[in-house]
Amino acid sequence: MSQAWNPLHYDHKLGFVSEYGKDVVSLLNPRPDEKILDLGCGTGDLSFEISKSGAAVVGIDFSEAMIVLARQKYADLQFWVANGETFRTPERFDAIFSNAALHWMTHPELVIRSVGLALKRGGRFVAELGGKGVADTVINALEMALKERGVSVAGKNPWYFPSIGEYSTLLDAGGFRTTYAVHFDRPTPMEDGDDGLNHWLNGFAGSYLQGLDPSAKLEVMDRVAQLTRPKLYHNGQWVIDYKRLRFVAIRE
Ligand code: BEZ
Repeated sequence: MSQAWNPLHYDHKLGFVSEYGKDVVSLLNPRPDEKILDLGCGTGDLSFEISKSGAAVVGIDFSEAMIVLARQKYADLQFWVANGETFRTPERFDAIFSNAALHWMTHPELVIRSVGLALKRGGRFVAELGGKGVADTVINALEMALKERGVSVAGKNPWYFPSIGEYSTLLDAGGFRTTYAVHFDRPTPMEDGDDGLNHWLNGFAGSYLQGLDPSAKLEVMDRVAQLTRPKLYHNGQWVIDYKRLRFVAIRE
């Protein structure tokens, strides 16, 4: 089931995604003479961050709504709608960057093939995605809340959250050499106090919630809050149990 994105909600209530992603831009260490592709660029904030180095940046995203807003915000950069699993580029890049996007692509071997074809030999693939176990507390509670109402969750999980072993094995098979990989806990505070969990659910859990009528949707979200509160709500703030997988891989 595909995810429907609301770019304004993404920018105004889930701004942490790009804020944390600035660390991944540091790991990328872009240089002025480079051509860099931002895979799953969303509304373009990190493409812009990369472009401050002087590198030429192209952003791609599967969501047309995200690309429309990215073009409005950063008119000097190039943005294209493209599928991360099947994209092809007319030129090869020095580096491909991706933040918080690869876990929405459930055929990673196709992504890695596309990235390999778009990179120069010796080029680098620098990325961060949700790692195995990310947001388990929320996802388990959401599935429980739906099952309690007799709603099937089959086929509704839209994500791929690998371990280092899984993803680096795929990178090896796809012609990459992984030079750095880390899988770390990053408890992630949400904005707006009590509303924070609902911002997260509205932004990311659409595939589970779509099809519910508005009152059922609110009841499910309340039940998720009830189930997760003891672990995730501290001093007036929701803190989601994020785990990140970050890596650098070189195309051989
Ligand atoms: C993440 O960015 O790690 C993430 C996004 C959606 C669901 C779970 C995790």
